[in-house]
Amino acid sequence: MKIKYWSAAALVGCLAIGILGGCDIERRKSDAELGLNPQQAAGRKIYDNYCDRCHRPYSTKGKKGPGLKGMFQHKYLSQTGLPANDDRVTDIIRNGRPDMPGYSQVLSTQDIQDLLAYLHTL
Ligand code: HEC
Repeated sequence: MKIKYWSAAALVGCLAIGILGGCDIERRKSDAELGLNPQQAAGRKIYDNYCDRCHRPYSTKGKKGPGLKGMFQHKYLSQTGLPANDDRVTDIIRNGRPDMPGYSQVLSTQDIQDLLAYLHTL
């Protein structure tokens, strides 16, 4: 009974938050919980610094840009329709898109490799 009460309370709480601000206020998982290796964890830091403000990593719901969950799971990227492979995604990161800045002056080749390693975990 007690357990039932708490799950009901959690649901109500989530609904309340959902009404106030969208129910995507999920607890942030640690790198270990996500099972990230050191390179992927380094990529996640870069993602948080440069990409997160426009792209949700664990949702396909759009922010300023499309959500990137599962971006490498399909043959083509959802919004641009470009092939979902390292070469094309590197181009997007380096050169940007009409509403996305390019990062060729900001991110090194190593940074982009780390970032790609992380993006493959989404
Ligand atoms: C200022 C907001 C903004 C930032 C910051 C940003 N993007 Fe984007 N991104 C966009 C928008 C908007 C699009 C859609 C562009 C289009 O339709 O051509 C996009 C498209 C993409 C796509 C293609 C997605 C698809 O479904 O076709 C990828 C991949 C991507 N961004 C990755 C990144 C990465 C990685 C970073 C961080 C290095 C980043 N973006 C930073 C706004 C942003």
